[in-house]
Amino acid sequence: MSSDNNQTLTTRQGHPVSDNQNVRTVGSRGPTTLENYPFIEKITHFDRERIPERVVHARGAGAHGVFEAYGKVGDEPIAKYTRAKLFQEAGKQTPLFVRFSTVVHGGHSPETLRDPRGFAVKFYTEDGNWDLVGNNLKIFFIRDPLKFPDMVHSFKPDPVNNLNDPERMFDFLSLTPEATHMVTFLFSPWGIPANYRQMQGSGVNTYKWVNSEGVGVLVKYHWEPLKQGIKNLLQKDAEKIQATHTEHATQDLYDAIERGDYPEWELCVQIMSDDEHPELDFDPLDPTKLWPPEQFPFLKVGKMTLNRNPQNYFNEVEQSAFGTGVLVDGLDFSDDKMLQGRTLSYSDTQRYRVGANYLQLPINAPKTHVATNQRDGQMEYKVDLAPGQNPHVNYEPSSLGGLKEAPKAGKDHEPHYDASLVRQRIERTNDFGQAGDTYRAFEDWERDELIENLVGALKVCKPDIRERMIGYFTQADADYGRRVAEGLKHADAQGGSGSADEAQASQYAKDNARGTDG
Ligand code: HEM
Repeated sequence: MSSDNNQTLTTRQGHPVSDNQNVRTVGSRGPTTLENYPFIEKITHFDRERIPERVVHARGAGAHGVFEAYGKVGDEPIAKYTRAKLFQEAGKQTPLFVRFSTVVHGGHSPETLRDPRGFAVKFYTEDGNWDLVGNNLKIFFIRDPLKFPDMVHSFKPDPVNNLNDPERMFDFLSLTPEATHMVTFLFSPWGIPANYRQMQGSGVNTYKWVNSEGVGVLVKYHWEPLKQGIKNLLQKDAEKIQATHTEHATQDLYDAIERGDYPEWELCVQIMSDDEHPELDFDPLDPTKLWPPEQFPFLKVGKMTLNRNPQNYFNEVEQSAFGTGVLVDGLDFSDDKMLQGRTLSYSDTQRYRVGANYLQLPINAPKTHVATNQRDGQMEYKVDLAPGQNPHVNYEPSSLGGLKEAPKAGKDHEPHYDASLVRQRIERTNDFGQAGDTYRAFEDWERDELIENLVGALKVCKPDIRERMIGYFTQADADYGRRVAEGLKHADAQGGSGSADEAQASQYAKDNARGTDG
């Protein structure tokens, strides 16, 4: 019988624990006995407290909130483009959970590192969950998912000595011309957002919206911070914070929500008709490219407010699981190859990281009707039965009172394919054009910081790696390449004595040259 007092410590079997200070022993000096169930339960659970970290985006912070739809896309009725229910009525609210993250390093790494930031949103809609798994930057390093594990390996520490080494990262990047645009953002001040509240978010990949006629358009999603604005850190400012604080961004988010200063973002979309757009000098499905906002304006569709901190970090933040495959009716995939590669990867890793029944955990479960014929597996704790369903029937079709297929929500979107099965790059790679545009669009101080950060990282790299990178920067913009080359020449002229300062500077360059994934 457990005690009436609900503060009483118990085991998970409900046994009251009357001594939590002493293990059971033969005499006060031991030896200990092995039938000591409360001790065994406590220590063996402790032994299993950690689950595998996320292979990327291990360091994160989360918050609950709400999405409020505007009922329009820009000035047009949103139903023209998508039938997704969460967007249709002005003022309609959908609860959500967000996890922000850094990418490359482990669960307790500093939040000041030069690294993209993850921006993953789980909308608990009436039609089930929608996950929008994005980053702060609007583009990515690569466009083919086959390259992702190599990219991440090159950004992570050396497998021999576990040390960060920009030479490995730039070795990969200098053989990956399509990364030049992302490198240009990452080594500029945009590579270190000041915190999680004051940064933008973007879905990066191209998705589709589908209307009730089954007609699709291409769409890109962007989160724009509202009242809190955007703020990035210069390298030296990040260093100052890092000297005393490794978790400033988690703290900033938590404190803001605790004091009622709720961060807000507006969700905007860019829309393109669903075709190849031969008039553009890039492919709309290429995630290394921006869609120029002059041609494809940002159209507002709703607002997100984060207003509640998690009650338990592990349950809600660590075990949360987002994936690009998690779409609701009216939203669809485009043919973006990387999006399709990602879609396999997320739920695969989550079945390993959290377990086969990860979708039954409260943070991941939809807040709507769930009824499946999926059964059993590790840690299943309830059966997905519908009210009145015959519990003997765990298959479909059945005439004995099992689950039935849902009626169609609208006409299917049925793109037609007529092509050979190939291994081929997209045709319009244009790896350097937008990198040059971005370089020229920066203000002088942003360009100065970009060059300084690149020189700091590249000066520890071998000559051929430097040369290839300078070649890419030059193809983007002659001034860009020239300034990096001159900066490196200058750094070489200064270097070579092996002074303590230089050793420190080189370690510093290594620490800050770590880039990322996604
Ligand atoms: C996390 C794979 C590209 C954003 C992850 C995880 C994997 C992964 C395996 C760990 C998930 C988990 O343990 O729950 C990939 C692959 C990519 C890719 C294979 C490319 C082929 C991207 C891109 C973005 C992105 C382009 C941004 C748009 C994120 C975010 C998380 C994440 C935000 C953390 C989600 C969370 O907070 O739990 N990715 N990723 N990834 N990825 Fe990617």
